[in-house]
Amino acid sequence: MDAEVTAKNTASLTMMALRAHERGGPERLVFEEAPRPVPGPDEICVAVRAAAITFAELTWPETWEADGIDRTPVIPSHEFSGVVSEVGPGVVDLTVGDSVFGIAPFNRDGAAAEFVVVPSLSVARKDATVSDVDAAAAVLPALTAWEALRDQAHVAAGQHLLIRGGTGAVGAFLTQFAHAMGAEVTVTVNSASAEARARRLGADHVVVTTAPFEAHDLQGFDVAIDAVGDDVPEWMYASVRPGGRLIVLQEPPSQELADKYGVSAIFFVVSTRRERLEELATLIAAGQVEVAIAQTFPLSAGKAAYESGSLPKPGPGKTVILVS
Ligand SMILES: NC(=O)c1ccc[n+]([C@@H]2O[C@H](COP(=O)([O-])OP(=O)(O)OC[C@H]3O[C@@H](n4cnc5c(N)ncnc54)[C@H](OP(=O)(O)O)[C@@H]3O)[C@@H](O)[C@H]2O)c1
Repeated sequence: MDAEVTAKNTASLTMMALRAHERGGPERLVFEEAPRPVPGPDEICVAVRAAAITFAELTWPETWEADGIDRTPVIPSHEFSGVVSEVGPGVVDLTVGDSVFGIAPFNRDGAAAEFVVVPSLSVARKDATVSDVDAAAAVLPALTAWEALRDQAHVAAGQHLLIRGGTGAVGAFLTQFAHAMGAEVTVTVNSASAEARARRLGADHVVVTTAPFEAHDLQGFDVAIDAVGDDVPEWMYASVRPGGRLIVLQEPPSQELADKYGVSAIFFVVSTRRERLEELATLIAAGQVEVAIAQTFPLSAGKAAYESGSLPKPGPGKTVILVS
């Protein structure tokens, strides 16, 4: 058993956390003392070591309310790695001291805190060879990419795949996983500096969209995935062969455009399934994926971490809060 966790188990009923008492952006966040959460049935409490940020989270309704009820004060940052510090009734497959990583439900308190309580099925064991920072940074984008390719697109070896935004947080994992699955991977990026990274991640063809490019050259793909996060351009629908699949991550697609080009257009939200997390844990532990970390901040500087979302990033990858 982890001695540090045991010590914390017997410690106070409070913890330090990053919280927002009113809806808004990073300016609302304060680092303060908060009640320490207690796990209910089928839940675990995790002593957080690293928590990764999805900046858009502060704009999502579920961050601020659950079932239409305001739930401020809220704790952000739902992607985490840490050590189980307490288990609730009914949890038999995890014990205190287990290293785990996972995703907290978005309509509950997150992991920018010393402790987070989550359903036990929303975590998987983390291999000791994988750092807490890498595990927290990978879990949401890698799981999204894995589910997009496996469960939504059903990508198979030899298929032609187009990824718009192939070096973003999700896009980088899409590129790596699709290459490993044996697909022929074409990606678009929006800077010349991202081109070399896209090739290193496994892209067979890279289109830099800042240079003049002919979207009608991008056609006949079995699957196209939009991982940019803005409005899906019409040429993405046109890039898919009739009967193929377009996967969009940011919002439900246009059925009108899907019908116009005879494609299946699919929106999905990542589901935190234990078996998928375990598959991911195996892939990351095998060293088969590159996890990019743009920057880290201590929990006490969590507000600055969120504020950094509107500044130029020092490099590709996730912003991670170091908790312990
Ligand atoms: N449905 C789900 O379950 C789910 C889960 C996770 C994420 N998402 C969504 O997926 C989207 C992507 O998330 P993310 O975290 O991967 O975002 P991200 O890290 O910001 O990635 C977006 C990437 O697209 C690039 N880009 C911007 N404009 C482009 C253009 N015109 N052409 C090509 N590339 C372009 C960006 O480059 P620069 O950084 O250089 O601008 C960046 O590399 C977001 O909408 C997010 O909300 C959905």
